[in-house]
Amino acid sequence: MAKLAIKGGNPVIPGGLKAKWPIFDDADKKALIEVLESGRWCSAGWYFKEPLESRVAQFEKEFAEWNGAKYGIATTNGTSSLVLALKAGGVEAGDEVIVPAVTFIASATAVILVNAIPIFVDIDPDTYQISPERIEEAITEKTKAIMPVHYGGYPADMDKIMEIAKRHNLLVIEDAAEAHGSEWRGRRVGSIGDMGCFSFQMGKPLTCGEGGIVLTDNEELKDRCYSYGDLGRMPGGEKYEHYIPAGNNRMTEFQGALLLVQLSRLEEQTNIRHENGEYFARELEKIEGISALKRDPRVTKRGYYFYFLRYDQSRWNDIPRDKFMEALRAEGVPCSTAHNQPLYKNPLFREMAFGKTGCPVSCPLYGKKIDYSKVSCPVSERVYESEVVALGKDFLMERENVDRVLEAIYKIRENIDELK
Ligand SMILES: Cc1ncc(COP(=O)(O)O)c(C=O)c1O
Repeated sequence: MAKLAIKGGNPVIPGGLKAKWPIFDDADKKALIEVLESGRWCSAGWYFKEPLESRVAQFEKEFAEWNGAKYGIATTNGTSSLVLALKAGGVEAGDEVIVPAVTFIASATAVILVNAIPIFVDIDPDTYQISPERIEEAITEKTKAIMPVHYGGYPADMDKIMEIAKRHNLLVIEDAAEAHGSEWRGRRVGSIGDMGCFSFQMGKPLTCGEGGIVLTDNEELKDRCYSYGDLGRMPGGEKYEHYIPAGNNRMTEFQGALLLVQLSRLEEQTNIRHENGEYFARELEKIEGISALKRDPRVTKRGYYFYFLRYDQSRWNDIPRDKFMEALRAEGVPCSTAHNQPLYKNPLFREMAFGKTGCPVSCPLYGKKIDYSKVSCPVSERVYESEVVALGKDFLMERENVDRVLEAIYKIRENIDELK
């Protein structure tokens, strides 16, 4: 009789792992109703004759403070935050920006959207984060910025990245879209580089459905981000005076109000996920052929978006990772390969789908040739093809769920022969 659920046995978690997200209560409802009834639905100060209290402005201040940054500029989403940061940092046509091959597409499309060129580099096999050595090799006379992504919530090596940036006079824009609450040597990520960008999309550790923010300590960059997000107006300036070509990326007051309440829970939630994540990693050490990412003492807090497991097929009787994932799902544990492939393998890059003009890649201001179909990042490719098993962050809110996931992995391990 088969024991594994994939072979007809009973699953460890009948009905599948249930983890509640997003989390809200009456305080969130009250905050939204208050905005509704206040008549101030829009965050733009210039819209109102009388100065009115803005939830967005309050959230910008509180989130910046929570992260140890001076300023926050709220936006419509994480992608627009990256675009604003790149524009504010003066990244333009002909510039190269170094990004990891392993991340969500927005890290690279933001670069394309400001007419610059993403240069993909490989990751560190133990942390899945951008490799400082590969960054160094990728720097050219065209490089303007480095965009470390704290992928899945795991901090990139900010010591080495800041040192490289300083030596080559490069801008650092942290993509912290997945890393709310993560710490690198006691500092919250997103506040270490010149600018840090977050997403508040629904699945993120801090959410209002959709939203984003740029953090910075630099007043000039703050003002430029503001301007690029508010149709070229100057902070505190005239309603109909516009200085630069720019779109509208303003956050609504409903989102600001919701984020303020959600932020009041973030630290506790981060701590719970961190503790349970550490417990999970320690327990995984007892199981052959599967492990957590490296536990680096410089990572003083892990804010999770994904929990990445490293699967070693050679120690699972050569059962391919995808077969293991099928078995895990059948036991009731949802899992995936996160973003499935290195960014440069997406049709956008593989087919060089940059429209009629081919800009920015064939922009005369760039003057170089790049063919993304020839890019190769072996670690990134191997990780996606056969190693990574990604679990979402939500099961980490309850120790019981972590134990059930462990039980499912043990069960597959003990009945491995059924998978042959
Ligand atoms: C690493 C990374 N960067 C950028 C983004 C873009 O954020 P948004 O979806 O809010 O535009 C995301 C969102 O999933 C992300 O995971």
